[in-house]
Parts: sequence; structure tokens; C-alpha cells
Amino acid sequence: MADDQLIAALDVHTRSEAEVLVQRLGESVGYYKVGMELFYALGGDMVLWLKNEGKRVFLDLKLHDIPNTVGNGLCSLLRLRPDILNVHTAGGLRMMKAGAEALHRAAEAQGIPCPKLIGVTVLTSMDAEDWRGLGHTGTIADAVLRRAQLAQEAGLDGVVASPAETLEIRRTCGDDFLIVTPGIRPAGVGNDDQRRVMTPAGAIRAGASQIVVGRAISGAPDPRAAAELILKEMEEAL
Ligand code: C5P
Repeated sequence: MADDQLIAALDVHTRSEAEVLVQRLGESVGYYKVGMELFYALGGDMVLWLKNEGKRVFLDLKLHDIPNTVGNGLCSLLRLRPDILNVHTAGGLRMMKAGAEALHRAAEAQGIPCPKLIGVTVLTSMDAEDWRGLGHTGTIADAVLRRAQLAQEAGLDGVVASPAETLEIRRTCGDDFLIVTPGIRPAGVGNDDQRRVMTPAGAIRAGASQIVVGRAISGAPDPRAAAELILKEMEEAL
């Protein structure tokens, strides 16, 4: 199994909490997700710190705005050298295209590798009722697949989706398309606010490129033991 397949979400809001968690996880985790909780609290500092520690970083800010703003916003994040950035596919094809093009141009101009750019399809916390509440008439699965196809057409490297939709996206978008899946709950761990969940093994078997795990690691009495158990489960699933 590749050592980048487990991404631990650093969903904390102080530098000391983040440092303690990264230290406790040690060599077991090489990839971290920095989301809005940590980024809004500390700006890019933790991303730079993680990169300096030799970790890879998925900067999960889910950009969703007009095409020009998203393109420029992504370029502003480039200085932090994240390995993965994301936008929300709900911004549509033109927005995603503008983001991908601006990011590639900026990376090329600066002579640095371009981060992978992926699109959030439908949040894993949403269920059918939430979806209908927004006025949608089709299913979440259909919307996720449609959005994955649009992301691919826009030149994105992949998507964020729930493990439940992964098989179909893999079939449609091919082996090189990144599918990053949150909503991961090992057996016996509660769902919290997540709705479309699956076990680590289930997600890997469905064809996920990488899985994102937050509270099942950070909230465990021994986060390192929890991460190692998840890695073992992923290994066995392959
Ligand atoms: O604690 P838990 O494992 O549920 O955390 C999942 C992480 O993945 C959170 O940081 C959340 O913001 C993120 N995420 C998600 N669903 C998406 C995109 C990102 O849960 N569609």
C-alpha cells in the first residue's frame, strides 16, 4: 500500500493541539488535511510547519466563488506549497476550469510543481433528506457522478466523494482520477454528523485513492494505535 493513502484530518484550532497530535502519530501518518478550523485560526503557518516536518498536506478550503476569485484565491495558496487543493464542484464547470488553469499557469511561472486540484462533489454529511431539502429532485449518487464528470472535463485531478459513490466514479472517470473519501468510520465508531459513511476497508475496496480520517483518529484514546489499526485494515483490503 502507498504511504500516502491515509490522510489524517487536523481538525483542531490551536498550534499546540496540532503539534501534539502530529507528534503522537509520528511515522504512522505522513499526510495531513488542514481544513477551515485550523486554517481560519492560524492562517498558513501550520501548513508551512507540516511541510517543514516532511509531511504532505491536503489544504481543504473548498473554494466556491466566481471563476476569477477562485482562480486568484488558489494562486494565493500556492506559496504554502500544499500537495492537494480543492474547490467545490457546485461552482460549476467555468469556475473549476478557471481554477485549474490559473493554478497551472501560476505554478509554471514560479517553476514549482502544481498541487493536485480536486473538487468536492456532495458533502459526506448530507443524506437524501438534506438533498431534497435543497430542492434537488435526482439522487445524491447521480449528482456526485455528474459533478465528477464535470470536474474531469474542467481539468481537475480528481474529486472528494463518499465511499458509496466511489465504485461508479472509478468506472466512469478511470484509474488515474483521484478519489479522496471522507466519511470513514471503522467498525464500532459512531457516525457523528456524517451520513454517507463506510469503513476504511470498504472505501479502499471501492477504489478510493486516499481516505480522510478525522475523529476516528484524533478522538481515540490512543491516536497512533487507531491510525495503525486503520492502516492494517487498508492493507488487508488491498
Ligand atoms: O472526523 P471526520 O472523519 O468525520 O472528518 C472528516 C473530515 O473530512 C472533516 O475535516 C471534513 O471537513 C472533511 N470533509 C468531509 N466531507 C467532504 C469534504 C471534506 O467530511 N465532502
